[in-house]
Amino acid sequence: MEKIYEGKAKEVYTTDQADEFIIRYKDTATAGNGEKKADIAGKGELNLAITTAIFKMLEAHGIPTHYIETLNERDMRVKKVTILPLEVIVRNISAGSFAKRFGVDEGIVFEHPSFELSYKNDELGDPLMAEDHAIALGLVTKAEYDAIREQTLKINELLKAFFLKINLKLVDFKIEYGKDSDGNILLADEISPDTCRLWDKDTNQKFDKDIFRRDLGDLIEGYQEVLKRINN
Ligand code: C5P
Repeated sequence: MEKIYEGKAKEVYTTDQADEFIIRYKDTATAGNGEKKADIAGKGELNLAITTAIFKMLEAHGIPTHYIETLNERDMRVKKVTILPLEVIVRNISAGSFAKRFGVDEGIVFEHPSFELSYKNDELGDPLMAEDHAIALGLVTKAEYDAIREQTLKINELLKAFFLKINLKLVDFKIEYGKDSDGNILLADEISPDTCRLWDKDTNQKFDKDIFRRDLGDLIEGYQEVLKRINN
């Protein structure tokens, strides 16, 4: 295996299969574009297990993803894709940068989900990006943008139902897409409490990376609770 990429939370390896990668989930937690950083033993394992359950659920509902199989406690075998430099974000309830940007409280329930893009670029601080910006920069075609938006809103509905069944509200989440060698756009990266905001349905207790970002307690206990509810 040869490491070809190392990000904040994952490493990507090539294998002897030309059209596959192995993604290794790390224990590193970062926030604020890497300003806050810590190693939290067990986080990678929990995110891999949670992402696995979610990708299997989405595949079962007809969403094409890069997922092939989970090999062990650290590593996921995936289809090789080129990641589009877009952070695709859906919000069902106000929180985080939305609440800050527009000067509103967290916890406002939206009648319609809010779909937004950020340009995935650490140096620029992942700026918010309009549809036309992404198309003008040649990151996606108009047809690809439309397909991504439609697919993402479908994923939102599936994720909302999945989490509601385990008494969690899906406040918001970020996903990434990649393109395979045939030009198909597949859901890629991860879907975990690192990339979603999840609040308890009854108490609004946070079970996501805001525990780390805002020093709200034990992140591992939070993520373990999410996995426990998924597995029950
Ligand atoms: O920070 P913000 O409110 O824009 O985040 C919206 C959602 O996207 C949150 O669930 C957050 O965890 C996720 N996100 C992410 N990676 C980023 C930015 C946001 O997973 N780089």
